[in-house]
Amino acid sequence: MYRSDQFKQVDDETFTISIPRGAEFRILQLTDLHLGFGPLSRGMDRLALEAVRTIIGKTNPHLIVLTGDSIFPFLPKTGTRNNGKQAKRLIEFLDGFQLPYTLVFGNHDCELLSTCGKEELAELYKQGRYCIFAEGRKDLTGVGNFLIELVDEAGNVLLPLVLLDSNMYGEGGWFFSGFDGIHDDQVDWCMERLTALRQDDPDIKAMAFFHMPLREFKEAYEKMKLGDRAVLYRHGSIAERDEYFGISKFKSSFFDRAVENGVIQWMFCGHDHLNTLSLVYKGIQMTYGMSVDYLGYQTIRKSYIQRGGTLITRRADGRVDIAMVPLGPVVSTRVRGAKG
Ligand SMILES: [Fe+2]
Ligand SMILES: [Fe+2]
Repeated sequence: MYRSDQFKQVDDETFTISIPRGAEFRILQLTDLHLGFGPLSRGMDRLALEAVRTIIGKTNPHLIVLTGDSIFPFLPKTGTRNNGKQAKRLIEFLDGFQLPYTLVFGNHDCELLSTCGKEELAELYKQGRYCIFAEGRKDLTGVGNFLIELVDEAGNVLLPLVLLDSNMYGEGGWFFSGFDGIHDDQVDWCMERLTALRQDDPDIKAMAFFHMPLREFKEAYEKMKLGDRAVLYRHGSIAERDEYFGISKFKSSFFDRAVENGVIQWMFCGHDHLNTLSLVYKGIQMTYGMSVDYLGYQTIRKSYIQRGGTLITRRADGRVDIAMVPLGPVVSTRVRGAKG
């Protein structure tokens, strides 16, 4: 676990990082690294690690958040199912930057037939020298539901970061049953925690990080294309084939409850590697992180407009900027019906 004078573990599901007033704080979202660390993925892994190194160098973040599918224990593409070994290699790599990092699980980190379950991976991540991770409450769905609160020197919460496990596949287990999402018990927990924070500061705003996109993201995109001016375009594009969003068949209550609760102002996801869109819908800015993947999608090595990171800057005055940090010189910002 990360150690620093500025960092504290408050309980089994809460951490604080003290940040100086009058200084900006930069969070780098990286997503879908799809690292194999197996005999079949060496070339692609090298490219992905080099990409991460470059993006970190460009952004100089104070905290890195990985939004899932960091490792990829998929035998046909990597030659290994040993996600424990993959996690160890990833930890060793990330610890080398001497910067705190945290993560949520995606649908691939614990792929079917992989060696370790999420609890075992959690144990490994907690041993990372710069890693911030907690399993969270045992009675909640998923592993890794926790909060990192950015606080001032006096301990007042400035910006809570909520990390949520958006789970893997629906009833029946694997891929063909469709994707899962954030369950009601997780939503209840999250809203309770945020409501408590709002009691101390009625203006508090939070960020949520999870892997799977929400169906409301797609809904907002479709409204925007039809010219609905209530949806505000921020950046990026939807470049998956047929404008695909990898959403769950099941409707999660997370978005509606977040709107009603009013504390979450920003949501960050990954999962759809070619989508980089960021828009504001019902007061919440939803952002697809730029992805790193060279291996997961069949020919993605040759695509580049999606590859990079997403830099979230909390300025000294509390305002938040969210920017794409492309690895290459070109990004796609072509979206029909977009209004800034
Ligand atoms: Fe992925
Ligand atoms: Fe995914």
